[in-house]
Amino acid sequence: MTMLERQIIPITSEEANDEQPMQPGAGNLGLSRRSYERLYYNARRILRSVDYYVERILPWAVKHVDDMHEHRRRVGRIVMTNGQLSEALQRSKVLQDNIEVAISVGTYNGEPIVMCMWGINNHRGQTIDPVDVIQQETEYQSGPDSLPSERVDALRREGYQFVNNLDDIETDDVLSLWGPIFEWPEQDINALRGRLQQQRDLPPDERSVWFTADMDGSEVVALAMAERLNLPLGNGESISVVESTEWCVRSEWQGRGLSTGATSHVHAQVLTDLASLEHPPVIVAETNFTSRADRTGHGVGMIVAPRSAESFPVPQVLRQNVAIGDGLRPEHLRDFTMMYIPSENAAQYYSPEHCEKILGREV
Ligand SMILES: CC(C)(COP(=O)(O)OP(=O)(O)OC[C@H]1O[C@@H](n2cnc3c(N)ncnc32)[C@H](O)[C@@H]1OP(=O)(O)O)[C@@H](O)C(=O)NCCC(=O)NCCS
Repeated sequence: MTMLERQIIPITSEEANDEQPMQPGAGNLGLSRRSYERLYYNARRILRSVDYYVERILPWAVKHVDDMHEHRRRVGRIVMTNGQLSEALQRSKVLQDNIEVAISVGTYNGEPIVMCMWGINNHRGQTIDPVDVIQQETEYQSGPDSLPSERVDALRREGYQFVNNLDDIETDDVLSLWGPIFEWPEQDINALRGRLQQQRDLPPDERSVWFTADMDGSEVVALAMAERLNLPLGNGESISVVESTEWCVRSEWQGRGLSTGATSHVHAQVLTDLASLEHPPVIVAETNFTSRADRTGHGVGMIVAPRSAESFPVPQVLRQNVAIGDGLRPEHLRDFTMMYIPSENAAQYYSPEHCEKILGREV
């Protein structure tokens, strides 16, 4: 048995670790239990063998699906080459039926690589809207009308301020948003504050979490953050997938571009801090279709990756992934369009000059 196999085989749900969501570092690799009854597998390295994926991992993924009591949804995330993805899709009906996401994340040893996710739900796993409706509605033909830096500029001129730490923000002010919307407990907000403080002493390229609050005077009106997951490739190399997340705006302030502003500000921090990485980071976001968070994604220069690989459909939709307290009906679980910032858009919207402007450092 290879090292890889020893790492992957013991994936009974009993052996999954409970997730420690605010741990510093590279995020959770391997198998973990996540909120909303999810069993989540982040591969510890780039795919080595398509045979192993097709013959071992995917059959495990669908095993006893009708009988999933302990968890409601299984998700797997792994990086592989484009060629491996094509071969795996051709060979595996399980992958064809359950692939949710494939995003181009750069190259490794000269070959294009993708971050691929499958998701398998038990019988409760139907999307709120049909997947083809979600796909049509999130099909954008062109980029945002205004640059993220212009939006942030306009918001500053309207008097809003952008703050990238929690030092002077009361826990309750964040809790009043992230508590009801994303079920954050108070201790996680305090842990985030500590983590943001600690990493100020780190070299920028080692940072793993970023935060922005839009303030209207002393009031927190919008929030966004980003968290880094280093997906190992091999030979000590890894690709940093940074999840832009927890986007929210106090209801009376919605529709004024504040979510776009906060999110662009977080992205500018990430792309400035990680500018020197050998493999440029890829910022991704799971956007809630019910609240149309994909519009914020679009406004900050994100796109949806192609909805097919070879001739096989790749929905780019995470079905019934987690709940969001967005105040909309039906309550509870939501469907998410996966969006990301491709390198061309990073260059266009988050060049060093644009980032400086977004971060308010321009002279
Ligand atoms: C999703 C959310 C963050 C958007 O915040 P917001 O401040 O209203 O968004 P913005 O004002 O920055 O708007 C972004 C774009 O979406 C549009 N928009 C916002 N809400 C919209 C809606 N309900 N329907 C249609 N368009 C909408 C805006 O017009 C804007 O488009 P533009 O860039 O073409 O001008 C906010 O509605 C919210 O907090 N929802 C609850 C929590 C949630 O679901 N978060 C998302 C988690 S993934």
